[in-house]
Amino acid sequence: MALQDVLIDELRDMYSAENQLVKALPKLAKGAKDKTLKTLFTEHLEETKGQVIRLRTVFEHLGKKPTGQHCNGMEGVIEEGADALEKDEEGASFDAGLVGAALRTEHYEIAGYEACISMAETLGLDDVVDLLEENLKEEKAAAEKITAAAEPILEAAKEEPEEESDAPKTGKEKYSDKKSKEDERKAAPDLKKKR
Ligand SMILES: [Fe+2]
Repeated sequence: MALQDVLIDELRDMYSAENQLVKALPKLAKGAKDKTLKTLFTEHLEETKGQVIRLRTVFEHLGKKPTGQHCNGMEGVIEEGADALEKDEEGASFDAGLVGAALRTEHYEIAGYEACISMAETLGLDDVVDLLEENLKEEKAAAEKITAAAEPILEAAKEEPEEESDAPKTGKEKYSDKKSKEDERKAAPDLKKKR
């Protein structure tokens, strides 16, 4: 497989990821209790729409269509964001969960764009590099703004009393608990070898 084909697959993945975020960010914005966080999510939604358009331009440069690859990674990251939205935490503690979810989406995208940019640079696709750099710059700025906005949220969450949750575990939570133990058990033999 030639490098350009690998790049196109990666770019289609990013295109799918950005489209998925166009649908997910409004949910985070709606869920956020902190006003600054709400505004940041809303602003990044508008940027994300611009990023989708920019990626379409990238595909025009390459003479390829943007669809063809669904980003499973982003689907999983968004699913974790949906879990954070379902948590019955209050106020700042709830927002702290959203911050974690949002930062995961940004850093996933940063990794994706950095990989695409290296490939495009190697192929000498200067116009593509320039467009992708613009998206990358926005993702990095968004992550930084979210991290800054998180500071007072985390401080406030620290003051919130710990709640005793007596709600029974949902089916999804039970499944997640079981899988996490399975993850640990499977890794255990390899971890033993490390000693
Ligand atoms: Fe994005």
